[in-house]
Amino acid sequence: MCGIVGYIGDSNVEKVLMQGLDSLKYRGYDSAGVALYDNGNIKVFKAVGKLENLQNKLSALSDDEKRASMGIGHIRWATHGSATEVNAHPHLSMDGNIAIVHNGIIENYKELKSELEAKGYVFKSQTDTEVVAYLIGDEYKKVGDLKVAVQHIIPRLKGAYALCIMCKDEGDKIVVVRKNAPLVIGIGNGENIVASDIPAIISTTSNIVYLNDDEVAVVKKDSVEIEDLNGNKMPLNIQKMSIEMDAISKMGYKHYMLKEIYEQPNIVRNLLCGRITNVNAPISLDEVKISRDALKQLSRVQIIACGTSLHAGQIGRYLIEDLVGVATEVEPASEYIYRKNTTDKNSLVIAISQSGETADTITAVRQAKEKGAYIIVITNRPDSNITRYADSILNVNAGIEVSVAATKSYTAQLLTLYLFAIYFAEVKGVSLDRLPSIKEELVSIPVKMEEVLSSDADIEKKAETLSKYQNFVYIGRGVNLPTAMEGALKLKEISYINANAYPAGELKHGPIALLDENMPVVSVLIPGHISYDKTISNCEEARARGAKLITITSSDDKELEKLFDVIIRIPVVSDMLSPLLAVIPFQLLAYHISNFLGKDVDQPRNLAKSVTVE
Ligand code: AGP
Repeated sequence: MCGIVGYIGDSNVEKVLMQGLDSLKYRGYDSAGVALYDNGNIKVFKAVGKLENLQNKLSALSDDEKRASMGIGHIRWATHGSATEVNAHPHLSMDGNIAIVHNGIIENYKELKSELEAKGYVFKSQTDTEVVAYLIGDEYKKVGDLKVAVQHIIPRLKGAYALCIMCKDEGDKIVVVRKNAPLVIGIGNGENIVASDIPAIISTTSNIVYLNDDEVAVVKKDSVEIEDLNGNKMPLNIQKMSIEMDAISKMGYKHYMLKEIYEQPNIVRNLLCGRITNVNAPISLDEVKISRDALKQLSRVQIIACGTSLHAGQIGRYLIEDLVGVATEVEPASEYIYRKNTTDKNSLVIAISQSGETADTITAVRQAKEKGAYIIVITNRPDSNITRYADSILNVNAGIEVSVAATKSYTAQLLTLYLFAIYFAEVKGVSLDRLPSIKEELVSIPVKMEEVLSSDADIEKKAETLSKYQNFVYIGRGVNLPTAMEGALKLKEISYINANAYPAGELKHGPIALLDENMPVVSVLIPGHISYDKTISNCEEARARGAKLITITSSDDKELEKLFDVIIRIPVVSDMLSPLLAVIPFQLLAYHISNFLGKDVDQPRNLAKSVTVE
């Protein structure tokens, strides 16, 4: 959500900024802008909508008009005020001396705004960011030093921010600061770059510095210096970046989402590597730092997450309760944080977040930590904000996920939950007779995933016929209810088709009233569990109301062809491990339907990759 880039150096500033913003588009945005500094002037260019609109404006300018020695850029996802040019960043101080871009939210901006208005300041936009620009501008008039003005103003801001600031009178530096919002500095050779995420930096340098909360960095062409808010020098801890270039390229796929769906078998393979060496030996999960004794004593687990990560958590609950027998609750982080909950020092809280930047989940984890709970964070970004509160970090190692719709990070989260549930059962000494066969089957999952992917062309054809429907009902039972929910979420997110998921047994308690020939019902059918026959009965009930029936099944029963209009077969798999395979046809169906409908698959409207507001 929102993206920031700042650059100072001899390369073409406008190009570096635009390339950086382009690589951050996946985060979701609805307007964009850049500010270019040239010889005592700051020139601001903004456009609503796609980045191409801003690029077209910039392309129409002469080289002279775009000449710059440094600049800052931003893609905005509207929070305070709608997506207009006036609200787009960069914002200027009232005298035009200071330009800033901002990620995050200033919670007390209204009172700060009133204070400035009382002094005679007049605002142009509805944003919280313009208030910060004015405040820094006001302070700069008193102290005449950009870094010091920033150090004075930051303690007055409540909320989350990553800020990049330039000043007309100080043409040799960009000042950056952050709190609870990501910001990385790339250290180049005679050039330096700052950004809210690694992809914007990768083509300039692989040397990076992660800024800590409330550290202020002065970024010049040949140097970077960091201080705290009191002016004390802080060390410059330069690290080598680990993400490869190919992780952020489409590698020949039409969309990132398709590439990421296809990456799943290898991600699972990598995750399993070194964990299960012998099915009769205990699983190795050294990242879990809680002592075995403390884990054994636990009588309760709470899983907190949002969206797709929440669906992974719901499957995690099923696994922990089935294999370990410990009571497990799952809750959306946005609900957990606003109720009086009973988390205490005997609770194990598992927070799941692909990005590690989801504001609701971070707040929930902070609250749980304050109550003394032991915190395990499952994330794809071990360097993200959420990990600050973690006692143990389980890195799902899925590689950077660009498409807004989560796919590979979901299966990586699931696999991590399977590993954790098995580890937990082994520590507790329960379900020991079942674990070797589960481990054996886990090892076979990557090849089975590849089998599912090999039927993609067939799924694509089926998707084409399904793309004419406006509404869908998804049903599932047990461990595959969350799979159905995830399938429905994927379809909604990227095709804007209304898809609602229900427990199959709930259909007859209300949603069945929706069914007719225009409302297809999509089910998951995995034999070997009592729910199989019951779900078939639910599908028959739907058929009796004229609904078209689609199923994703590991059954080879020919009889199913009499009942179902569309059958997508997956390899034979146990009910317990089936979510790892069943979700792939759901992802592919959603992808192809969205593609047939000509939607923006990787950047669906109104959505952002990391949702950094509560
Ligand atoms: C997934 O397709 C969605 N874009 C969304 O539901 C996402 O899973 C949710 O916002 C949580 O994100 P996180 O995993 O980064 O915390």
